[in-house]
Amino acid sequence: MIVRAATDADAEALAAIYGHHVLHGFGTFEITPPDAAWMDGRRRDVQGRGLPYLVAEDAGRVLGFAYASPFRPRPGYRFTAEDSVYVAPDAVGQGVGRAVLAQVIADCEAFGLRQLVAVIGDSLNAASIGLHRALGFEPAGVGRSFGFKHGRWVDIVWMQKALNGGDACPPDGQGLSL
Ligand SMILES: CC(C)(COP(=O)(O)OP(=O)(O)OC[C@H]1O[C@@H](n2cnc3c(N)ncnc32)[C@H](O)[C@@H]1OP(=O)(O)O)[C@@H](O)C(=O)NCCC(=O)NCCS
Repeated sequence: MIVRAATDADAEALAAIYGHHVLHGFGTFEITPPDAAWMDGRRRDVQGRGLPYLVAEDAGRVLGFAYASPFRPRPGYRFTAEDSVYVAPDAVGQGVGRAVLAQVIADCEAFGLRQLVAVIGDSLNAASIGLHRALGFEPAGVGRSFGFKHGRWVDIVWMQKALNGGDACPPDGQGLSL
């Protein structure tokens, strides 16, 4: 398995993986799967900001992807990004999420960010909570019933990971252009 930057040629694979989790899971609060063009636009926006949008590929097949995007658009948030990670349903539990998210973390650190935030759909999302914990994220609170999907209220679980020393000292770069 290799981890590499996503390209426009990955758009259909990204849409298929994400679409499955939109339709069947609680990790994202989207209800209607976005098409490949929309996925590619998101990828270009992320990479255009200098942030990582990566895929894990094995034998020519995209098994999962992860990226970092601005947490919120206001400039005070310029040293914080939010991560997203999705793995094909038949490839979960095999180290794909760990491999691709670990590289996103490393790339965000190299960018000079100070906090990476996970906004995890569903308190019962043991896989995402476990993955983020395994990669050093700490609990940062729960938003109770912020979402309503598949006929029930759904929490969001906040987790965060300090990068480059976190808040131990002032930032030493420009951060994101917001
Ligand atoms: C969450 C997700 C990305 C994890 O990816 P994955 O490839 O299945 O995870 P990995 O196999 O790399 O597991 C890495 C670590 O995460 C933890 N983990 C993974 N699955 C877990 C589970 N079901 N329960 C508890 N911990 C789990 C473990 O610590 C694991 O390390 P280990 O294998 O050494 O025990 C994947 O399950 C997924 O796509 N889920 C649906 C979409 C989603 O919720 N995305 C996150 C949105 S915030």
